[in-house]
Amino acid sequence: MLSRRGFVARLPLAAAAVRMLPEMAWAQRAAVNMSDLPKDMVWLNANENPAGPPPVSLEAMREALPASGRYHYNDMGGVYAAMAKSEELSPEQIVTGSGSSEVLHTAVDAFTSATRPLISVTPAYEGPIELARALGRPVVLTKLREDYTADVKRMAEEAGKAHGGLIYLCNPNNPTSAAVRSKDVDWLVNNLPANSTLLVDEAYIHFVETPDVQSALPYVRQGKEVIVARTFSKIYGMAGLRVGFAAAKPEIIARLAPLRMNVISYVSARAVVAALGDQQGILHGRKASLARTRRELCAWLREREVRYIEPHANFIMIDTGRNAREFINTMPRLGVAPGRPFPPLDNMLRVSIGTDADMAKFREVFWKVYKG
Ligand SMILES: Cc1ncc(COP(=O)(O)O)c(C=O)c1O
Repeated sequence: MLSRRGFVARLPLAAAAVRMLPEMAWAQRAAVNMSDLPKDMVWLNANENPAGPPPVSLEAMREALPASGRYHYNDMGGVYAAMAKSEELSPEQIVTGSGSSEVLHTAVDAFTSATRPLISVTPAYEGPIELARALGRPVVLTKLREDYTADVKRMAEEAGKAHGGLIYLCNPNNPTSAAVRSKDVDWLVNNLPANSTLLVDEAYIHFVETPDVQSALPYVRQGKEVIVARTFSKIYGMAGLRVGFAAAKPEIIARLAPLRMNVISYVSARAVVAALGDQQGILHGRKASLARTRRELCAWLREREVRYIEPHANFIMIDTGRNAREFINTMPRLGVAPGRPFPPLDNMLRVSIGTDADMAKFREVFWKVYKG
């Protein structure tokens, strides 16, 4: 039988490239030939925040730029102190990274091995899964439950079977935007099999409105076997500035810290510290605005009887009722770039929540393709 991989390998190179283009072009990390794309493209493909960095951060970066000729190693203590304080942690309980990607990578590297798998769900955010595979570490992906949330009992079972593993729980999950209730996270923390660590990726936690979904940071404060990854790329609108951190007990941080590359960018660090100076104001305003736009989109979908997974993050998974590739391939030509395919959820289209104007354009283009 001809496998998909074998088939693609036999195509002439140019034809293979054309086949792959739509998928590559809308992938978050793809190199795209921008010249062929509509100039006013609405980018709803990478769960970014169209608001960008807060004004206080822009001002802080302008001030920091002239001093960026130096590493500023000595200033990083203050940066750690500000980040740690913002989450009621001590500086020994965090390690910073180039986005949360870097700290997720260090966690996978340190806490999986040839015999200790990474355990997650399918589909989940691919970064940690791809890294584990690249390092030759075993990966176990469990099925989502009917409500699209992670099955924490299955994940714990898999960790038990392997005599220990790193359980990667993305909460809310990318790409589903579904969130695991705190009572389930609590069960998992209290039933972690021996030799197991829980890695909770909270890139999107700030967008959650449901009170029964809460951060896992309290477990870090209690000294549990839990790592929480946070990023400034999403609600803070600083994806291009590349700042994130991991929070965990000091013994865990001591294992992660040597594996990261270096200190973070000084200019980005100043942006983060400035934003943390008005953390509550920034978070409150941005969350309220996102939640309103998200609610309006959900209401519009419901009116048209288009199904979707109840969203908890700054993106939504829409059930197109047919293979979503048709939308993924057609919509960009009409000026809106949605997310890439997320097998096995082949009928689902992931759409980031942009500005009100972005979402008006989305509705127009989506509906055109939906009606056929
Ligand atoms: C769930 C999740 N975790 C981590 C990341 C990595 O983001 P960053 O490295 O910008 O913090 C992303 C990016 O989209 C994500 O969706």
